[in-house]
Amino acid sequence: MDKFLIRGGRPLHGRVEISGAKNSALPCLAATLLTSETVILHNVPYVKDLITQRRLLEDLGATVLTPELRTQKITASHIQTFEASYELVKTMRASVLALGPLLARFGKAKVSLPGGCAIGTRPIDLHLKAFEKLGASVSLESGDVVATAPKGRLAGNDIEFEKVTVTGTENVMMAAVLAEGKTTIRKAAREPEIVDLADLLIKMGAKIEGSGTETIMIDGVDALGGAEHSIIPDRIETGTFITAAAITGGELEIAKCRPDHIEAVIEKFRETGVNIEIVDETTLKVRRDSKGLVGKDVTTEPHPLFPTDMQAQYMALMTQAEGTSEIIETIFENRFMHASELIRMGADIHISGNRATVNGPTRLTGARVIASDLRASASLVLAGLAAEGETIIDRVYHIDRGYETIVRKFRALGADIERLTEQIEENAPEN
Ligand code: UD1
Repeated sequence: MDKFLIRGGRPLHGRVEISGAKNSALPCLAATLLTSETVILHNVPYVKDLITQRRLLEDLGATVLTPELRTQKITASHIQTFEASYELVKTMRASVLALGPLLARFGKAKVSLPGGCAIGTRPIDLHLKAFEKLGASVSLESGDVVATAPKGRLAGNDIEFEKVTVTGTENVMMAAVLAEGKTTIRKAAREPEIVDLADLLIKMGAKIEGSGTETIMIDGVDALGGAEHSIIPDRIETGTFITAAAITGGELEIAKCRPDHIEAVIEKFRETGVNIEIVDETTLKVRRDSKGLVGKDVTTEPHPLFPTDMQAQYMALMTQAEGTSEIIETIFENRFMHASELIRMGADIHISGNRATVNGPTRLTGARVIASDLRASASLVLAGLAAEGETIIDRVYHIDRGYETIVRKFRALGADIERLTEQIEENAPEN
């Protein structure tokens, strides 16, 4: 299993370019199942989850051209099966995003029910209830979700989510675009990835209004066609590099990003004393003020508030801030597993339910630590970059799921980080 070896204590300097958003590319790839025509996607990040998503499309019968590059042409004209296997779903929960498009275009879909995962139980009951509202019958057979549209086509309806769900909103949007009649999704997620998916679907011929707001209105059409679309920059990768500049006391130019997608993160980091300049619509300059950082409380909430996917990185930063900060996680249970590893590196953190109290600043020292999920891994890399001495992070396959060429990017900024056994990055294209 791959490990990272980090020799910390070097401030990072230079310019880094942000990759395409994993969480946008995943539903956009799934959306290609909605048409028999070719969809061209640019800026697809070269990360494990996207390799898995492409495999899912190919298993279903789609052809994917140039899977080794960031531009991919996907044609789902000869779909042979309507089933996403347990083998795929167990490695990537986002495989459930195949349900909506398959159900919409073919009137049937079978996807293994994702099990529990490191950051909580993560059910998909809200997706399934919404499909039922669109007229599907949904049953559970030997661990698989089997959904069918009785007359082969879904029917538009009014759907109100009990809780904001990102992939749930995406799945239902993809189901409703080919349903008969109008669908209104209330309490919809408002993440930039929802807007990106809606933009792609609209280019394919879908009629969607209100993406990015709580109410999305969709007028179903009979068929969708080909389109060309560029995936938005990854806002969580952007936030991770902001944290990297701040935690190492360096100065970074972060290019090809979308500052308007991470306003809550920028605001919170500024409160703690991180200097963030919005240079233009796609560029940020970040440095840590000489007076140091101040601990500030944060609560994770659905977009546009502070994202749960930045909570672990923020916790690493707070170990270096003066005073006490309380971090409240409201989206996922069990999403503090990085805390015990940060404590092993010298952090002073107390967990009580969904509340973490960080007392800082504490001197971090290198240690052997284990990555438990994607964003937890990022927080350990950040802590390792700030720590004195050597940090070895085990199970970095988690980070490969969502961060493109992370070692290459950090090394170019002056970090002393290496992968102890090389895999994914060697195959990644240069640009
Ligand atoms: C997506 C992101 C993930 C991010 C999360 C929250 C992708 C591929 N993943 O995950 O990186 O951390 O949004 O911003 O985009 N819930 C239910 N029933 C459901 C669905 C969700 O109870 O049917 C609950 C979840 O357990 C969680 C909350 O709703 O407590 C929000 O989850 P959701 O927004 O669905 O997360 P994902 O879409 O899985």
